[in-house]
Amino acid sequence: MATERLPIISGNWKMNNNHFEAIQCVQKLAYLLQKEDFDAVEVTVHPPFTDLRSMQTLIDADQLRIRLGAQNCHPEEKGAFTGEVSPVFLAKLGVHFVIVGHSERREHFGETDEFVARKVAAVQKHGMTPILCVGETLAERESGVALDKVRHQVRVALEKRSSDQVKSMVIAYEPIWAIGTGKNATATDAQEVVAAIREEVAAVVSRPAAQSVRIQYGGSVKAGTAAEFMRQPDIDGLLVGGASLDPTEFARIVQYRRHAY
Ligand code: 13P
Repeated sequence: MATERLPIISGNWKMNNNHFEAIQCVQKLAYLLQKEDFDAVEVTVHPPFTDLRSMQTLIDADQLRIRLGAQNCHPEEKGAFTGEVSPVFLAKLGVHFVIVGHSERREHFGETDEFVARKVAAVQKHGMTPILCVGETLAERESGVALDKVRHQVRVALEKRSSDQVKSMVIAYEPIWAIGTGKNATATDAQEVVAAIREEVAAVVSRPAAQSVRIQYGGSVKAGTAAEFMRQPDIDGLLVGGASLDPTEFARIVQYRRHAY
């Protein structure tokens, strides 16, 4: 991994942890992580919307270096969108990172590449950092179109963004068949796709953007596999689902250098 890209490890809690559980989880995580961990790795947690206010209060009061993230937002700032959450509200709550285009949103809620591109723009407009998720299905991998699929997702999401905007964002490569299944992509397979994502960013946006954008791997990451992914030259971080619900396991993932086994 190029030294100028600060590693970023993110916990996507999905629809888990009410606001009481969220506080306990983050307090324990903060207790387990030391200053040198935060100096080496940017750590973000993405609880459900209903937890954000409690988390913001905790992070502020205890001056934690854990960065607050959301799992989604709507591209519009306000209006008749029942049940949706505005990026303006998230920014007001001290949210720094917003996951956009997670495969579960694309699959269960019909989010298209174009809709995801609007979210990327909205998140950046309000001073937050998007974590843009891309990834292929098992059928796409088996039929040899994984790279085409992922490159297309990247292109549609980024083609209207400036070089500086893309430099500051995060992309997460999450092969859908590896999410929640216990199946990892091999680190070499993940590296191959992540390198292709970087090439696509160079082609669609700019070479400097491709060199600066941070790219995570996600899909059944555990403490035992984190270091292997992080050793890959183009992988700058991890987007962790299930294992981020256990603060001990998640702390060990953040401390992947110490727990490389
Ligand atoms: P798991 O780590 O549970 O496979 O989830 C990955 C993911 O979807 C993170 O966004």
